[in-house]
Amino acid sequence: MPASATAIGDRPKKKSILDKHKILETNATLLLIFSFLVVTVGGIVQIAPLFYLENTIEEVEGMRPYTPLELAGREIYIREGCYVCHSQMIRPMRDEVERYGHYSLAAESMYDHPFQWGSKRTGPDLARVGGRYSDEWHVDHLRDPQAVVPESIMPKYGYLERTTVDGRYIEDVMTTHSFVGVPYTEEQLANAQADFRAQADPDSDYDGLLERYGEDSVNVRNFDGQSGISEADALIAYLQMLGTLVDFSTFTPDASR
Ligand code: HEC
Repeated sequence: MPASATAIGDRPKKKSILDKHKILETNATLLLIFSFLVVTVGGIVQIAPLFYLENTIEEVEGMRPYTPLELAGREIYIREGCYVCHSQMIRPMRDEVERYGHYSLAAESMYDHPFQWGSKRTGPDLARVGGRYSDEWHVDHLRDPQAVVPESIMPKYGYLERTTVDGRYIEDVMTTHSFVGVPYTEEQLANAQADFRAQADPDSDYDGLLERYGEDSVNVRNFDGQSGISEADALIAYLQMLGTLVDFSTFTPDASR
């Protein structure tokens, strides 16, 4: 064998990618710098597009801010901790969509501050409970859930129908919501108390209320069936509206955005 020839095993090895990676793995400072670079690139890819979108929420026809009575009901919903047992977020999975209806759209909670998606379902999701039961059902169920659903572990909320609300504070609540971006008009704010009372009283002059919030999307009823406006009236007005604003028979998702 000529002296210049080298045996195959002696050939100088090229550094494999594994060897190069070993340099990173055994050098804490280098590893830190490279990890930082990777996280930065990942972060930019996720965050940068948000600055160039006008809106991250697809606009959907039918969405409107809550009426004063519904908003009062929502305050009671939060106060009573209903969100601890109930979510308001239908995920786009078949079992959920078959049970609860169309999956929730971002736009459907765009006027929710704070949003009520919840994180636990001890009871069913309520995102589309509006119109599923009668007002009487809700009154009976809130008063004594076990009388309606014997195996229910939901607490009794009978005191809501015995507690009246005068709605004097509702204009302030609406103003607070407009600070964080809910587009209440001057007129809606000015008529807050009148609209609050009109929605629970079908004998009142509620044309203004319908004009301000929409003919088809506002339920005007004596929700709890008793005279005066109770917390149950407000809460049921809120529940009966949940998930009913968007007409899903005509809705098509806009994938172009
Ligand atoms: C301790 C947990 C718990 C709390 C708190 C709770 N619920 Fe429930 N809720 C349940 C359970 C369990 C069910 C299912 C059985 C039933 O219908 O009672 C239920 C059912 C319901 C239903 C019927 C939903 C459907 O699609 O059948 C409504 C409406 C409802 N709850 C509203 C409320 C409201 C409003 C509050 C707050 C005032 C509240 N719940 C607080 C556990 C809870």
